[in-house]
Amino acid sequence: MNVFDCIFNRRSTRSFTKEPVDDKLIGVMLHAATHAPSAGNTQDWMFIVVKDQEIKEKLADAALKQDFIHTAPVVIVVCMDKEKIAMHYGKRGEALYGVQDTAAATMAMMLAAEALGLKTCWVGAFDEDRVGHVLELPNEVRPMTIVPVGYSTETPIKPRRIDFENLTFVNTYNKKYEISYIVQSQGGKEIKFKPIGNYIEDALRKRLKEVRPMEKQPAKKTSFADFLKKLGR
Ligand SMILES: Cc1cc2nc3c(=O)[nH]c(=O)nc-3n(C[C@H](O)[C@H](O)[C@H](O)COP(=O)(O)O)c2cc1C
Repeated sequence: MNVFDCIFNRRSTRSFTKEPVDDKLIGVMLHAATHAPSAGNTQDWMFIVVKDQEIKEKLADAALKQDFIHTAPVVIVVCMDKEKIAMHYGKRGEALYGVQDTAAATMAMMLAAEALGLKTCWVGAFDEDRVGHVLELPNEVRPMTIVPVGYSTETPIKPRRIDFENLTFVNTYNKKYEISYIVQSQGGKEIKFKPIGNYIEDALRKRLKEVRPMEKQPAKKTSFADFLKKLGR
C-alpha cells in the first residue's frame, strides 16, 4: 500500500471488531506520529495509550457519549505539552503551533494505521477537563485528539469532498486555479477531465478493483513481521 492509497482510502471508522491489536503495531503508529513536523522540532506531543475497558468507557462518556470509542481495543489520546511549546514560542506557540503539531502527529499516526490495515477515527468533540481527569493529566498536558484504533469489517462511504478548484486561488485571492487533464480516446478523440479530481477518483476506483477485487474487502492486515519485511529487514 503506497502513500496515495493511505490518503485516499482512509475513512473515519466508527465500528470495530473485538480483535486485539498487537502492541508492536501501536508502536509503529506512535513512531510515525513522532515523525510529523513540529514548530522548531519542539515535538510538543505526548500520547496516552488506553487499553483498560473502564477508562475507555469514561473517555467515551467524556466525548459526548460517543460509545463507538470504547468498542475499539485501543484508544490513543494525543496530548500537547503546553509548557514545552510555550517555553519556546510563548502565546502563539500554545495557541497555534501546539495545535498544529499535535494535529500533524495525529494524521501521521492515522496514515500509518491505514497502511497496517488498522482503522481509526479522529475524535475532537470531548470535554477536555473530564478527559484530563480520567487520564490523570497534569495541568500542562492538554488532550487534543482521541483516536480509537482497531480492525473493522465495515467500509464506510466516502463523504463528499469539495473540488479543490472551488477552494484554491492562484497568486492572489479570487483568481481561480483550475487544472484539467486531456486524454486521447481510442478513436483519437480528446476527452477533457475537469476538474482533474474526477480523473484521479476514476483512476483510484480502477486501482482499488485491481488491488482488492471485492471492493468491500478491508485493507490488508499487516503484522509487525510483514512491516519489517517492507522495511527490508
Ligand atoms: C478536528 C476534527 C474533529 C472530529 N471530531 C469527531 C468526533 O468527535 N466524532 C466523530 O465521530 N468524528 C469526528 N471527526 C471525523 C470527521 O467527522 C471525519 O473526518 C469527516 O466526516 C470526513 O470523513 P473521513 O474521515 O472518512 O474522510 C473529526 C475530525 C476532525 C478533523
